[in-house]
Amino acid sequence: MSERAGFGFVEETAMCKVSALLREREAVMEESRSWSGEVKGRPWKVTQADCVETAKGFDAASVDLVIADPPYNLGIAYDLYKDKLPPAEYLGWCETWLSQLYRVLSDSGSLFLYMGEEYASEVDVMAKRLGFIKRSRIVWFFTFGQNQRKGFTPSHVAIFYYVKSKHFTFNVDDPEARVPSARQLVYNDKRGNAAGKLPDNVWLLTKAAYEEALGPDADIWLHSRVAGTFKERLSKSLPCQLPAAMLQRIVRLASSPGQVVFDPFCGTGSTAVQALKLGRSAVTCDVSPLCTEYTVQQLRGLK
Ligand SMILES: C[S@@+](CC[C@H](N)C(=O)[O-])C[C@H]1O[C@@H](n2cnc3c(N)ncnc32)[C@H](O)[C@@H]1O
Repeated sequence: MSERAGFGFVEETAMCKVSALLREREAVMEESRSWSGEVKGRPWKVTQADCVETAKGFDAASVDLVIADPPYNLGIAYDLYKDKLPPAEYLGWCETWLSQLYRVLSDSGSLFLYMGEEYASEVDVMAKRLGFIKRSRIVWFFTFGQNQRKGFTPSHVAIFYYVKSKHFTFNVDDPEARVPSARQLVYNDKRGNAAGKLPDNVWLLTKAAYEEALGPDADIWLHSRVAGTFKERLSKSLPCQLPAAMLQRIVRLASSPGQVVFDPFCGTGSTAVQALKLGRSAVTCDVSPLCTEYTVQQLRGLK
């Protein structure tokens, strides 16, 4: 009913067309299609389906790493999903998929959960109540946030890093996942570990950014959003693409080659692409036919 209220001025026939379109979209959302393949012996599977239904089809403890970047209920124009639910409904939905993620994660597995500021606190409490053990709240500090008329430009997102037990995978010695330390960059101190250090819990992803922002006591992850005009942006019509460098860091640190990485909110397929490039298997799903078809196209193009 409230859907229709916005169309109050529209003629009857146009209204019928809108209803038909909505019914068609609902039907597409209910439809489930899947594709699979292999990159250098590592299997992948993409399903066009709801994440809860998809996860229900997995065995318990069958996934080693989950990277989840759900809609944040901000009213973003996704292909099908309506990103503006009443808060209680949104949080109820989060709880449904979070409990499935808990079930499918292996004992040594990790969940990296992206969450917008508005619901970050509630979702964190919920995740802990479901049994997840919090390791960090990483702050992804980004540039190119959306300008505000009256307020501060949003420039960070929380990435909650949870594990299920104390036997979690964390590849501390992967050289590509380490970053230069302040001793190396700021003080030119020969006592600094030549292999650098593990990233801080605020993320800066380039050496240049570190050099610019790392003061003697700062700890920061900075990476630009993938804005519409960027070369890295895969498709103008698919919003919210995560930067490749950030996903590579997570995959390298929190999973090992051959392990299974699951992304329940596929979008452009960024997680699956990076997981496969790093020799992991990838499983992902999205309700959107546009996103899943686009992802399949990319995965088929990987050598
Ligand atoms: C923030 S975007 C993910 C962007 C992705 N991380 C990337 O780098 O492109 C969220 C995605 O969740 C999808 N989505 C919404 N509801 C879903 C559901 N119930 N099951 C699976 N995917 C869903 C949307 O279609 C959208 O593509």
